[in-house]
Amino acid sequence: MDIVQNSVRAQAKNIGLSIIIDEPWLVIRVQDDGTGMDKPTLKKVKDPFYTSRRTRKVGMGIPLILQNAEMTGGHLQIESELGSGTTLTAKFGLKHIDRPPMGDFASTAAMMMTGNEGVNLQLIVQHGEQQFAVTTNEVKEVLGDVDIRLPRVTRFLKEMIEENLKELKIEFD
Ligand SMILES: Nc1ncnc2c1ncn2[C@@H]1O[C@H](COP(=O)(O)OP(=O)(O)OP(=O)(O)O)[C@@H](O)[C@H]1O
Ligand SMILES: [Mg+2]
Repeated sequence: MDIVQNSVRAQAKNIGLSIIIDEPWLVIRVQDDGTGMDKPTLKKVKDPFYTSRRTRKVGMGIPLILQNAEMTGGHLQIESELGSGTTLTAKFGLKHIDRPPMGDFASTAAMMMTGNEGVNLQLIVQHGEQQFAVTTNEVKEVLGDVDIRLPRVTRFLKEMIEENLKELKIEFD
């Protein structure tokens, strides 16, 4: 959610959130069409010394996901271009003992889809050959005049995502 929030803050209109289970890896990718970063900034956010100084208050954002990915034998990759957007890919050891739990992924994903006005979020969940995808714009189209910010819409989406996870035989944590 923190990484998606970075994209929102970078004025992205379209955000792709992919959760890919590709054993033994869990890959989380956030792709946006926001402001992007210039080369010096990109260098700084990847530098743990610099980033840990900036986020000294608590371990949040990129330094945290970097640390978590590397702790599980994975890594973090960030590609960014000023004016066109950013793609962050974090790879975790799926079954590694140090991988932080996903938590209530369905709720979190549903909230991200309905809670960012003006942002079209595409959620893709993939397990091996199977995948499901849903976008904020598709949901809005189905809703017609119903306001996407209504709690029951988020609840419905959460259940829909949960069912799809089940169908894909995905059990996080
Ligand atoms: N998707 C993005 N597009 C453009 N710039 C980004 C993006 N993600 C991160 N950045 C830049 O990298 C910086 C560091 O991000 P990071 O998430 O580590 O910390 P933060 O967002 O500044 O603070 P926190 O996450 O702790 O609230 C951001 O302040 C921003 O300048
Ligand atoms: Mg952040």
